[in-house]
Amino acid sequence: MTAAAGEGETRALLVELAASLFARGFSVGSAGNISVRLDDGYLITPTNSSLGRLEAARLARLDADFRHIGGDKPSKEVFMHRAFYAARPEARAVVHLHSTMATAIACLADADPENPIPPLTPYFVMRIGARLPLVPYFRPGDPAMEPAIREAATNARAVLLANHGPVISAASLRDAFYAAEELEEAAKLALLLRAAPTRLLTQEQIQDLLKNFG
Ligand code: 13P
Repeated sequence: MTAAAGEGETRALLVELAASLFARGFSVGSAGNISVRLDDGYLITPTNSSLGRLEAARLARLDADFRHIGGDKPSKEVFMHRAFYAARPEARAVVHLHSTMATAIACLADADPENPIPPLTPYFVMRIGARLPLVPYFRPGDPAMEPAIREAATNARAVLLANHGPVISAASLRDAFYAAEELEEAAKLALLLRAAPTRLLTQEQIQDLLKNFG
């Protein structure tokens, strides 16, 4: 699907990809929210909805200024998504999850705030980039999170919210889902290898990946 896909196709794709994430355990209960930029506004998942059971026609429709103009009541974290679109002009979709492994890392007392998930594999660097900042804890739905996320997202395609979970942006809806899945797998690897001496990608290897896939 291209960036020029119609709104109907975009709604259907969001519902399909979200259901797949839910079916594979990347999201449970009503956790997580997803938005996608349209030519004249945004779609975002309704608050308290399950990513496994979204309905295309009920997705919340926002105008270009993030005002609710249709569908169910939007996620209480609209501002989290707005922060990414403001910070990253290329972003066309944002995925927020409470996926287990990434959230576990977001709870570690000794997590590195600059680099809580180390660059172990090429696909992590290709999908997420060289930086994944840890944003300090805020209550879910607290609008005070917006400036902190906007600042962190200026230099990063994704952030990890302390004790909460990851937020990932990408240039297409599909790429945002791919990146969210890759981030969770990278977190799993980081936890599996936490006690073992590891060989991280070198700065040279990271720069080579960014040059070719960034
Ligand atoms: P919403 O149901 O309002 O989208 O909130 C879910 C969530 O993931 C909070 O962090």
